[in-house]
Amino acid sequence: MAKAKTVHVCSECGGQSPRWQGQCPHCKAWNTLTETVLEQGQGGAASSKRFTALAGNTATLTPLSALEPREAPRLPTGLEEFDRVLGGGLVPGAVVLIGGDPGIGKSTLLLQALSALSHRVAAIYVTGEESGEQVALRARRLQIEAAPLMLLAEINMERILATLGEHKPRLAVIDSIQTVYSEALQSAPGSVAQVRECAAQLTRFAKQSGVSLIMVGHVTKDGTLAGPRVLEHIVDTVLYFEGDTHSSFRLIRAFKNRFGAVNELGVFAMTDKGLRGVSNPSAIFLTRHDQQVSGSCVLITQEGTRPLLVEIQALVDSAHSPNPRRLSVGLEQNRLAMLLAVLHKHAGVVCFDQDVFVNAVGGVRISEPAADLAVLLSIVSSLRNKPLPRELAVFGEVGLAGEIRPAPRGQERLREAAKLGFNTAIIPRANAPRQPVEGLQLIPVDRVEEAIEAARNLQLG
Ligand code: TYD
Ligand code: MG
Repeated sequence: MAKAKTVHVCSECGGQSPRWQGQCPHCKAWNTLTETVLEQGQGGAASSKRFTALAGNTATLTPLSALEPREAPRLPTGLEEFDRVLGGGLVPGAVVLIGGDPGIGKSTLLLQALSALSHRVAAIYVTGEESGEQVALRARRLQIEAAPLMLLAEINMERILATLGEHKPRLAVIDSIQTVYSEALQSAPGSVAQVRECAAQLTRFAKQSGVSLIMVGHVTKDGTLAGPRVLEHIVDTVLYFEGDTHSSFRLIRAFKNRFGAVNELGVFAMTDKGLRGVSNPSAIFLTRHDQQVSGSCVLITQEGTRPLLVEIQALVDSAHSPNPRRLSVGLEQNRLAMLLAVLHKHAGVVCFDQDVFVNAVGGVRISEPAADLAVLLSIVSSLRNKPLPRELAVFGEVGLAGEIRPAPRGQERLREAAKLGFNTAIIPRANAPRQPVEGLQLIPVDRVEEAIEAARNLQLG
């Protein structure tokens, strides 16, 4: 028998190299290549068999119109906020990956969802991180121990697949993918090769059997799923848990969803009885200051299908080092540098000798560019030490030419702001609605200078 072939796999990007190198030739990361055994069939001629089952009769060419799509009935989990991010429930044979920091509530959420479901359909919870007793203890605290949920404390991939194949549940949870290992590979559980192989095998099983799978994945410090990013390509849906562990609110965001909208947001509150859905979250990221404070501006952001009002805070203070600090929490760092440059160039506001810190309150992560205007106005407010009116809410993207660009779903944002008692809004001119929004004075602006001027007039008035 030929000597077992090995390849070197990058733990960052999952790219393969035939030799060991200090730097990954694919993603240029250093010291990320680890040797793994290229198992029989991976890449070889014998391999083609392993994949035929999934692909089915690939040899026949079929016109798209001749295929009769079966609208698979979705299985609602019973947790409304979770269903919302899933796009209405679980699809048979779909594979969902849930990532998030340790201790943020992944196991809690899945145990709650699964036990609620197990009253209606067969469900199996595979735990590799905790023992059966520990899960039972948690279930008792969540007061769900009476659920007919089946538990499997196992980390051997082949045995997990055998059990799932035998019992054919409607839904199974693998907690977590980093703890399972396949006998086909020599490397340790959690290594790139193992995680990838196990995820691929589980996915193949789900597609063939119609069992819906939810896999838990750990996240590294820089926020990516530990090990190979390839996991995100394999699965149908990628959900990330986010939120500040110090606050009780937890957000689940869909990053990829073959069966629903992305960037949909589910909001939960962690209580002593587990996670509770927050059905009307638009105001939870607002701090109502008793007095007017400078450097605070309320942003109307849109997450998936619903608007959220989030307080953006800025602190601008004279720098004591030649390199002033620019720090952003919950907002994009590069975008902050860009906004400061726009502020200087187009509005003549100078910050190069100032430290600038910005923060999205409540641990929410905002990636949409419509946050720009709020960041900008809060920076100007802090710099001049002039508070913005408390009933002001803004949104709008800032372009490099100093223009204020429109954001999608302007109407909905404005209606939400009006509902929460805001009475003034500075918005991109292109977002100005034809009919007035009741209770809301709208100030449409085209340029950064105009927006700053409008805010100043409000401060004076
Ligand atoms: P866990 O769900 O185990 O997180 P993960 O699986 O993502 O690592 O942890 C949830 C955290 O929430 C843990 O720190 C304890 C806390 N918690 C509550 O506050 N209330 C509860 O009812 C439960 C079960 C956990
Ligand atoms: Mg866990």
